[in-house]
Amino acid sequence: MCGIVGYIGNNRAVPYLLEGLEKLEYRGYDSAGIATVENGRLRILKTKGRVSRLEALIASERQSPARIGIGHTRWATHGKPSDCNAHPHESQNGLFCVVHNGVIENYHALKQTLQAQGVTFRSETDTEVIAHLLEQNYDGDFVSTVRKTTAMLEGAYALCILCRDFPDRIVCTRWGSPLVLGKSEEGCFIASDVSALLRHTNDIFYLDGNETVLVTAQGMTFFDKTGAPVQKQSRHLNLDVSAAQKDGYDHFMLKEIMEQPKAVGDTIRSRITKNGEIAFEDFHLTDDEARALQRITVVACGSAYHAGAVGKYVMEKLARLPVEIDIASEFRYRDPVLDAHTLVILISQSGETADTLAALRLANEQGAKTLCIVNVVSSSIANEGGSVIYTHAGPEIAVATTKAYAAQVSVFYLLAGYLAQKRGLLTGDAFRSYVRDLLALPDLIGKTLNDCRAQMEALSQMFIPLEHAYFIGRNLDYACAMEASLKLKEISYIHSEAYAAGELKHGTISLIEKGTLVVALCACSAVFPKTLSNIKEVKARGARVLAVATDAENAALSEVDYKVILPNVNALFSVSLEVLPMQLLGYYTAKNRGCDIDKPRNLAKSVTVE
Ligand code: G6P
Repeated sequence: MCGIVGYIGNNRAVPYLLEGLEKLEYRGYDSAGIATVENGRLRILKTKGRVSRLEALIASERQSPARIGIGHTRWATHGKPSDCNAHPHESQNGLFCVVHNGVIENYHALKQTLQAQGVTFRSETDTEVIAHLLEQNYDGDFVSTVRKTTAMLEGAYALCILCRDFPDRIVCTRWGSPLVLGKSEEGCFIASDVSALLRHTNDIFYLDGNETVLVTAQGMTFFDKTGAPVQKQSRHLNLDVSAAQKDGYDHFMLKEIMEQPKAVGDTIRSRITKNGEIAFEDFHLTDDEARALQRITVVACGSAYHAGAVGKYVMEKLARLPVEIDIASEFRYRDPVLDAHTLVILISQSGETADTLAALRLANEQGAKTLCIVNVVSSSIANEGGSVIYTHAGPEIAVATTKAYAAQVSVFYLLAGYLAQKRGLLTGDAFRSYVRDLLALPDLIGKTLNDCRAQMEALSQMFIPLEHAYFIGRNLDYACAMEASLKLKEISYIHSEAYAAGELKHGTISLIEKGTLVVALCACSAVFPKTLSNIKEVKARGARVLAVATDAENAALSEVDYKVILPNVNALFSVSLEVLPMQLLGYYTAKNRGCDIDKPRNLAKSVTVE
């Protein structure tokens, strides 16, 4: 969603701001803007549309001598995408300007009060109230003015602020939305996401909730929530700048699809000890604690929810615990029944998804054990969870997740094995064989990608003219069908639906007619004969069927129109192979339809509003 950048240093600011905004484009946005301080004046330039449009608009500004500036990409919530709703927003008399990520929930009341006092609003945004409040609260001290102002705000915010009276400093603060900082010989950098800092430094300062930081060309001074100065340590990230580059691929999505053997390998291998046990850095249960667990509730949004659906099947099968799964936006408002014997697992690539974060807070409040599966280090969800297991997928840039999903699914294989062993249900040779299969998975993923990439590019041709597609499967295949369908629809804009194969005949089969394309996922050997019957039912009504199955079922699939054959694999891990041709199908279909693959319309990588 929205992105923030800031720079102050010895060099010209505008090129850094534009470069930072380009790095944040992947988050999804609809307008962009920057502000600098020049000759004692705040200078704001902003526009609806892409950063490239902003760049064209301010071509001459690249030579601007300003050494300080802030920038923003906006994803519209309050007010349509437009030039005037774009950030930065300025105070009435131009003393302050601000860029903001998050939502101010009490903005309406604040706006009414300000309007009653004669303040004129120039935009429809919630953010503009912050600019005006800063001016009203101004006491000659930049940091204290910011603190007075944020004390009046309810909701979530990451703020980066300029003040005309202090042309040599930026003040930032946050609550509920992330903000990171870094320093190099060129100066100090601020961003809402580390990917915009990696070109300059790998040593990242994470601003905690309610902390404030005063940034100058020389360095940063941090203040805790009481306003007292606080020493902060940076965290060194072992990330290569190439992680945020396309490395010769046409799109980040394809690059990230091809990175899955590494993402899954890094996630799994670091959790298998020399003795062949499964162990996590921050999540430990004694055998008694594992046996005392009565229930697991998995909560997430989007593809992370689909990864949780895989987790449900695998954990129930191995650990014999009831697992319920819910969408975070539903869970948080349904008054869930939780207790100390419930393990609530929250899954999030970004670690900032508003509904998932709220669900975590609710579970914490109700005394459940919470475990978060997160990709972005030190994100809000990682920080607030009782325990965290990081997926080691590396930065994911494409809006449509692939490698982070694959890594989340792998964590569930680890967790299922871990819980099953602790509960005495998977021991001895059976456990060792499970771990061996797990360690073999990254190579099988690599082989599957190599084997099916060209075939999926060819098969995508028949999807290009489609208006509708259906994905069916049972058990683990159904979990995969949900993700496969989402991958196709979110980037190619073809309407697609996933159905539990056995449910199709309770309504949806009436939509099947001659030529309808049905993708049948049937890698799950335990239910293969059942799915085969469903394939026959849709074929009998004229559907064309593309089946995805392992080599073991190849011979039985003589009647389907097209098939993708996967290597044989431990049946519990089949989704990790089956999803690969589906990601490639979505990718090549979208590419051939001329869609903006890495930045699909209306979507955001990190959904920080509910
Ligand atoms: C957005 C992204 C999805 C992602 C979902 C949850 O919709 O486009 O790819 O699965 O948010 O995000 P999270 O960061 O919590 O995994």
